[in-house]
Amino acid sequence: ESGSYGLDGHPDFMRKEMAEQPEAVRRALRGRLDARFATAHLGGLDLDPMALRAVRRVKFLGCGSAYYAGQIGAGMVESLARIPADAEPASEFRYRNPVVDPDALYVAVSQSGETLDTLAAVQELRRKGGRVMGAVNVVGSAIARECGSGVFLHAGPEISVASTKAVTTMGVSFAMLALLLGRVRDLSSAAGTRIVGGLQALPDRIEAALELDAQVAEVAQRYAKSQHMFFLGRVSGWPVAREGAQKLKEVSYVHAEAYQSAELKHGPIALIDADMPSVVIVPNDDLVAKNLITMEQVKARGGPVIAVTAVDLPASAADVVIRVPDGEPELDPLVLGIPLQLLAYHTAAALGRDIDKPRNLAKSVTVE
Ligand code: G6P
Repeated sequence: ESGSYGLDGHPDFMRKEMAEQPEAVRRALRGRLDARFATAHLGGLDLDPMALRAVRRVKFLGCGSAYYAGQIGAGMVESLARIPADAEPASEFRYRNPVVDPDALYVAVSQSGETLDTLAAVQELRRKGGRVMGAVNVVGSAIARECGSGVFLHAGPEISVASTKAVTTMGVSFAMLALLLGRVRDLSSAAGTRIVGGLQALPDRIEAALELDAQVAEVAQRYAKSQHMFFLGRVSGWPVAREGAQKLKEVSYVHAEAYQSAELKHGPIALIDADMPSVVIVPNDDLVAKNLITMEQVKARGGPVIAVTAVDLPASAADVVIRVPDGEPELDPLVLGIPLQLLAYHTAAALGRDIDKPRNLAKSVTVE
């Protein structure tokens, strides 16, 4: 526990930090949205509009949940700024002798700012002349210092090993970065205004998603005895599924596998039976009908389906429908993640796990 940062009546830090997310998001947004010009200002980013326009590619690097948050960010950059973007585990990047693209913007993502693999990736990039910014929570940390420029997450202290509010503020920061990159390109001011409004509404939307707690707790109790679970998603739902599976594994020790929905039929569908629940992520995008087909495929093999959705679905589509509140669809990944945090939390609680100190894990990994 760090200084005066206590539990304030919460049973553990994971619970406290999940509850703090609306406030953390407010802090992450404060002073950064520009309603007049329908863009974002990221003061720690030393790139003028010409330099922003010169960015030809964006690559997010991080480990664990920071990597999955980076994948969410890459999707936002591609859709809002129409720049090719992807995410890669920093640990892979540093070891594979990467081609460093001088026209790319690299984003080093880390809550602690101390993860050795991510720091080493930054050092490798800088040695090869790559342009790298940090997306870091802890001010003064090694990665923040090494990058020299970037965006602080302002999530506040995160104690729980399983990251929740830091991941959410990473996504918020990347939405602002995508907006900024979009607005020096072809993202219209009307579209920019819509995203600014969506970001302003996000804290309340997350607050309302947290109110799904009782429903998710019931679902967790119902499925806690499962040996395995699938988390399925496509496009913007896919990194959400990956982070949801990671969270469940970390705190409950239930084996979870995230899979791209359409790839299921190419192999893993063989695993589906009555004891293998699938959590299907449904953002409000063009792929709702495709996601309904995925649910059909799982149900037809007798697999229980838990839909976590940002659109209304027929009750018959799934065994359980967890509906998050409406908002701008580009920001759905940030809201759809909330019930997945709650699912991991309540599954761990139902199984009597030590939620803040999962076995074998450390809050930050500063060794090879
Ligand atoms: C550890 C933690 C993960 C975390 C990862 C990256 O493995 O157990 O929860 O996502 O490090 O940490 P960072 O501080 O760089 O975001």
